[in-house]
Amino acid sequence: MSAAAPSTLNADRFSGKTAVVTGGTRGIGRAIAVGLAQQGARVVITGTDMSRTQAAAREISSEGGRPVEGIVCQVADESQVVALAAHVGRKYERVDVLVNNAAIARRNPILDISLDEWNEVYGVNVTGTFLTVRELLPLMTGPAPAIINIASQAGKRGEALLIHYASSKAAQIGLTKSLALELAPRIRVNAICPGFIETDMILEHYQVQARLRGVEPEQVRGEMVAKIPLGRMQSASSVADVALFLASDSARDMTGQAINVTGGMVMD
Ligand code: NAI
Repeated sequence: MSAAAPSTLNADRFSGKTAVVTGGTRGIGRAIAVGLAQQGARVVITGTDMSRTQAAAREISSEGGRPVEGIVCQVADESQVVALAAHVGRKYERVDVLVNNAAIARRNPILDISLDEWNEVYGVNVTGTFLTVRELLPLMTGPAPAIINIASQAGKRGEALLIHYASSKAAQIGLTKSLALELAPRIRVNAICPGFIETDMILEHYQVQARLRGVEPEQVRGEMVAKIPLGRMQSASSVADVALFLASDSARDMTGQAINVTGGMVMD
């Protein structure tokens, strides 16, 4: 699903900076990549499929108004992350903004979750974040580097049928706080906890929940919206607005935070 660009336009905010967005081919990552490019950054996105990643990079370039590079990198695969860092180091020399957005969700009751499925989710969502930070950190040599981890409200509240996903997102929040302490004062590290964003990930959620419960996907959607005080799903572009803020000097006094973008559904 394509996402609108963030609403806060500031053409030079990231000029001269290089940003890496993992899982930038669609959804929230794509909206963040478009916003960073529109606001002056050199952007590298990663994806898992060569033709889709390159097509997305071309589209984001055209929306963002500057060249965007697409690189295939499975973030759970150490050698691919090492290769990504080597390429980015050679071509761009440094990284100013790292957005750890790539993630997967699997939906199953605990009795049906195999160890392989558990490890797959943790591999992408937790190990992938760890590896990407570890490998790109040596390139974060500029004056004000920022790391933004896209976690989830599920990591704060918990979520039935998503115990591996939700607990992996809690781990990402812990990783964010621990890295914020370890990398201060030079590098700021924050997380965003989106609520319900209508990307491919959540459309799949409607289908699976509907099948498991024997109801229509529209009913699942309606029940989810009913939990949100602002009365609507959130958008990829509103998550991108917060990501761009956290990446910018406007957030210079913020580190170790896990910011909710949930329409008021989560308040702590
Ligand atoms: P999406 O499924 O539309 O996009 C996920 C991206 O991650 C894609 O670009 C995909 O290629 C990439 N990816 C998947 N596995 C990968 C791997 N092994 N290595 C590298 N890249 C991989 O998801 P969406 O909704 O845009 O989610 C983005 C982030 O926001 C995720 O971290 C997700 O957990 C989080 N989130 C999403 C919510 C939602 O309602 N959609 C709610 C809360 C958090």
